[in-house]
Amino acid sequence: MRQHRRTTRILGSLLLVTAAGAFAVGAAPAGGTPEGDTPTPLGRVIPAPASVKTGGAPYRITDSTRIHVDDSREARRIGTYLADVLRPSTGYRIPVTDRQGTGIRLKLGSKDASLGDEGYRLDSGRQGVTITARKPAGLFHGVQTLRQLLPAAVEKDSVQPGPWLVAGGTIKDTPRYGWRGAMLDVSRHFFTVDQVKRYIDQLALYKVNKLHLHLSDDQGWRIAIDSWPRLATYGGSTQVGGGPGGHYTKDDYKEIVRYASSRFLEVVPEIDMPGHTNAALASYADLNCDGVAPPLYTGTEVGFSSLCVNKDVTYDFVDDVIRELAALTPGRYLHIGGDEAHSTSHDDYVKFMDRVQPVVAKYGKTVIGWHQLTGATPAKGALAQYWGLDRTSAEEKERVAAAARAGTGLILSPADRIYLDMKYTEDTPLGLAWAGLVEVKRSYDWDPGTYLPGAPGSAVKGVEAPLWTETIVTPANIDFMAFPRLPGVAELGWSPAATHDWDAYKVRLAAQGPRWDALGIGYYRSPQVPWTAAG
Ligand code: ACM
Repeated sequence: MRQHRRTTRILGSLLLVTAAGAFAVGAAPAGGTPEGDTPTPLGRVIPAPASVKTGGAPYRITDSTRIHVDDSREARRIGTYLADVLRPSTGYRIPVTDRQGTGIRLKLGSKDASLGDEGYRLDSGRQGVTITARKPAGLFHGVQTLRQLLPAAVEKDSVQPGPWLVAGGTIKDTPRYGWRGAMLDVSRHFFTVDQVKRYIDQLALYKVNKLHLHLSDDQGWRIAIDSWPRLATYGGSTQVGGGPGGHYTKDDYKEIVRYASSRFLEVVPEIDMPGHTNAALASYADLNCDGVAPPLYTGTEVGFSSLCVNKDVTYDFVDDVIRELAALTPGRYLHIGGDEAHSTSHDDYVKFMDRVQPVVAKYGKTVIGWHQLTGATPAKGALAQYWGLDRTSAEEKERVAAAARAGTGLILSPADRIYLDMKYTEDTPLGLAWAGLVEVKRSYDWDPGTYLPGAPGSAVKGVEAPLWTETIVTPANIDFMAFPRLPGVAELGWSPAATHDWDAYKVRLAAQGPRWDALGIGYYRSPQVPWTAAG
């Protein structure tokens, strides 16, 4: 039985109440794209900024607009990124310069400690728009806000008429959580480097900062491991439904990491163990307790495979895989899965996790596991990724909450809220429904801070939206399942709880529709969202 939380919040409206709001939020038609000389209201951004003060004249980007950056490689790179967004649609030259001047200014080294590592301040007025931050990530997030303040047509790749106005006022913005993730399952269906980059660009627009790649499962092993080459060449040679599958070479993976990092996302690689391992077991007979390699698997059942917990070669394998993957991964985390180990006894599961977690630490990484890891002993500093449902037993929830009270950090991915592969309605042509049907409101309308009974709010490190790909084959399929739910997850991760209000959110969400059209993102036109006719 699914339960809908029905909380009434009035705080959301407070955020947007300001003094001299010449261009106050709501000045444009609800859900509409402001037209002509009416700029997008300053607060009409996803994720909702922490604080917005509207007022003053708008800034207008013209053919003489320059982007003035600090004399630093990072600021110049972010300035160039912004210019690359602006040039095709405005048709303007938009030079990036480290000379001082008015126009668009990107400044690092803010002394305002309250901005943290990811926060920014955006000041807009007749003379220009200035984004300041302490760190490059903050500057980049500020640029995403600026993008959303411009008309949707700015995203097009051909020259558009404009005008290109940015409403006057000040935004000061920092994230609620440091972990704002998205997971892509590249095992059930393989996605190429370019397809992953496309998703990274979509995530960056909403200030998502972690890309979790589910690199191995029963159906495919997707990362080259030099010491066990058949994992990729054989274990990666098919996928659900029997297609050719594929894998990332080490250079491919490095390119994903580089590209993600250029958009301030950290790649979190996952090797799922000890279950979900048929592709590995099929590649090396030795890894099986009976020494017999099973065939490759292209179905969608779960829970039938297990590494052989009582063989030493299993730990040679784990050590090699983790060593090679850790060496390729600059980020702090390595995800070891641990879910649905239905073919591993409890004792074996505990034994396995007791031996494997120290290997992750040995290679300098921090463990993440699906929340079943709390049924073993999570290593110090480990994070557990909770993927339960409203109907998950109180006992299981309490086990996770107890681990959280004892110091295990939580990433929340409740499957009946933010699994992006769940169908929206019975009629959704893609996706699964085992966790329930998840319409847009249900996906948005919960609070990570109070979600898991008995878990302290301080244990919650953030949220992550997994996209499992049993039924997801193409980038268009990703678009349809992620949009419009993904921006809501990003907002749950970024915006203060006080801004959280479905009725206000759905208007901001509707305003994103034309932007997705301009970007070529085919989204689900949920009847819960007041889309404009054009969008
Ligand atoms: C999961 O959905 N098995 C983590």
